[in-house]
Amino acid sequence: MTSRIDALMAQMTIEEKVGQLNVTADMVRPFVPDINPVANEQNAGQVLELIRQGKVGALFNGKGRQGAVALQRVAVEESRLGIPLILAADVIHGMGTVFPIPLGETATFEPDLARRTARATAVEATAAAIHWTFAPAIDVTRDQRWSRGAEGTGEDTLLACRFGAARVQGFQGDDLRREDALLATAKHYVAYGACLAGLDYNTVDIAPQTLQDVHLPPFKAAVDAGVGSIMTAFNDINGVPVSANKPLLTDLLRGAWRFDGVTISDYTSEMELVAHGYAEDMQDAVLKAFMAGLDLSLQSGLYLQHLPSLVRDGRVPMWRLDQAVRRMLELKERTGLLDNPYRSLEMDDVSDACLARHEELARESARRSIVMLKNAGDVLPLARTGQRIALIGPFARDRDNIEGCWTLFGDADRYVSLEEGLRDALGDITQLEIVDGCGMEDAIDGGLALAVQAAQRADVVILAVGEPQRYSGEAQSRIEIVLPAVQQQLADAVAAAGTPVVALVRNGRALALQGGVRDADAVLITWFLGSQTGHAIADVLFGDYSPSGRLPVSFPHASGQQPYYYNHPRTGRPELPEMKEFKTRWREIPHEALYPFGHGLGYGKVDYGPTQVDSAVLRRGESVRVSARVRNLGQRSVEEVVQLYIHDRVASRVRPVRELKGFDKITLAGGESLDVAFLLNESMLEFTGVDGIRRAEGGTFDVWIAPSCTTGEATQVTLD
Ligand code: GLC
Repeated sequence: MTSRIDALMAQMTIEEKVGQLNVTADMVRPFVPDINPVANEQNAGQVLELIRQGKVGALFNGKGRQGAVALQRVAVEESRLGIPLILAADVIHGMGTVFPIPLGETATFEPDLARRTARATAVEATAAAIHWTFAPAIDVTRDQRWSRGAEGTGEDTLLACRFGAARVQGFQGDDLRREDALLATAKHYVAYGACLAGLDYNTVDIAPQTLQDVHLPPFKAAVDAGVGSIMTAFNDINGVPVSANKPLLTDLLRGAWRFDGVTISDYTSEMELVAHGYAEDMQDAVLKAFMAGLDLSLQSGLYLQHLPSLVRDGRVPMWRLDQAVRRMLELKERTGLLDNPYRSLEMDDVSDACLARHEELARESARRSIVMLKNAGDVLPLARTGQRIALIGPFARDRDNIEGCWTLFGDADRYVSLEEGLRDALGDITQLEIVDGCGMEDAIDGGLALAVQAAQRADVVILAVGEPQRYSGEAQSRIEIVLPAVQQQLADAVAAAGTPVVALVRNGRALALQGGVRDADAVLITWFLGSQTGHAIADVLFGDYSPSGRLPVSFPHASGQQPYYYNHPRTGRPELPEMKEFKTRWREIPHEALYPFGHGLGYGKVDYGPTQVDSAVLRRGESVRVSARVRNLGQRSVEEVVQLYIHDRVASRVRPVRELKGFDKITLAGGESLDVAFLLNESMLEFTGVDGIRRAEGGTFDVWIAPSCTTGEATQVTLD
């Protein structure tokens, strides 16, 4: 039986087929701020004419129903075959309601919370006539100089797998045909975060085993979660740009993984094969990318220009063109667009009640993302009354650095600044004094003096410092992952006043904390928390919520340590407590983090009993129960992220000192004890060997249930 798609394809000219593979910026609806370099710029009239000619498969980065209906009507009623458009956008972590940046939300160690915020995002995005988001980003990031870790899930592969899959499920929902289902994109395929020196777009020189064990698993998890599309990264891998990498785009994705969605270039990444020095010219770039398995071209317009002639002269076989076109048409069928081209384009506005629920969810996600690194002398939580508070720093009143680096459509009118959150929480605001002290990057005449005087008058200082949000995001890699100098000076001057200091750090990456920030009495890592920033921080500061976030990235002593990541090998000369000479350390600092992966404190004290196993031997095909008793020594209820780590003591390739293999966030009432347990099986012990084969090798493994990657007492399990 001929399917609808077969029948459609039988009518399509080569140009119309290629048109379905062309994705271009939506210049007809209000285009969002420039987040991409100018390339192949077309005006609204030219875009409309291409649509009439059936030469556009999808548009991206517009929003709004009215314009969308008009665009779709042109595609459906004025083109020869009336194939509907699919409308995409970079909706990374929120639409009108903005949730924490993905890196910050990963600090919750609650994938299901990420699923919920992605679902809320999908509801708002589809109501704004967007069918397809270019998210989630699942790039494992081991070098914090890189500027796009903010969009991802940090340095650990398991977190990337769990959060990536959760966000795909949240965006897409249970039925892609629903009006509020948002097609997802796993990006940036692959190892974009492994760019040399953390320099965005830079070459990636990587062992095949590292690719297999660290960077590819999150994409496999996204494919298994049913992701509809995969976006290629800008980088090369060992000399072959990903956008023309057949082993990765076809052999692995289509062969081994049976991925049935579409692959799409990142913004002109196929055009950039020429700049890479991998293609002679634009036609050669198209030939190499398309034959490697890159189905869609984002923004360059090169597939329109060169594919028809490549097909006509036989250099691109018709079967390959039909294969890509069919995938795109199947995507439109799976999202219900072939049945109803106006799907999601005629919905009602999101109701106020729904937005209110989303704001509550944003507040919940934001406060759960906050990581308390230290709380000396239990300076936190603060009392709401009876103490003079000096709120000092450029983030005190700021409303321009609330949303993070990749928010295109946030409703800024709904943002809650730190000042607003504190004022709401305090009630009596006479005890609150606010002094900027300095700008984000520039000094303020007399600002330091005013700040120090305010600190001297106060019982406690809340120091609001961090990175401007434009320090993260595309093409913003940094050579020093520290605060802007003026802010460090402010922190140091305020610290010298001698008043207790609570440092609030706003950041899109791990930072090398220094001086008055590192030595503050309390340090809260607040990332970019989105719409509910002020309320979420106040909830934690005044004890309405005990902080439960844990670090998804290691905070180093110094920038020079990068790339630094917790799951590094031991080396042949590990530093020993009694032996520092000729050991793996810098002259100035040890080979360790200032604050390690998995670390975070709450308003309580939790004790871990020894890690126990129900069998010291793990037989292949079976599992061992690993458990520990976790006890809340305090009186108030707290949440704890219990973490399961392993270390393979001896193997055919040196192994990481620790690897996260499980985690669970539990709630412990005051004084409560809980036996937490994980099942450890053979697959969790696997790694890719010298021969490229993934397997678990027999031998002894250290196993921990611990509160971070550097704590806990191991027990041993032997795999037979
Ligand atoms: C950008 C980003 C990618 C984004 C795309 C479309 O260059 O790398 O994450 O989805 O272009 O804006």
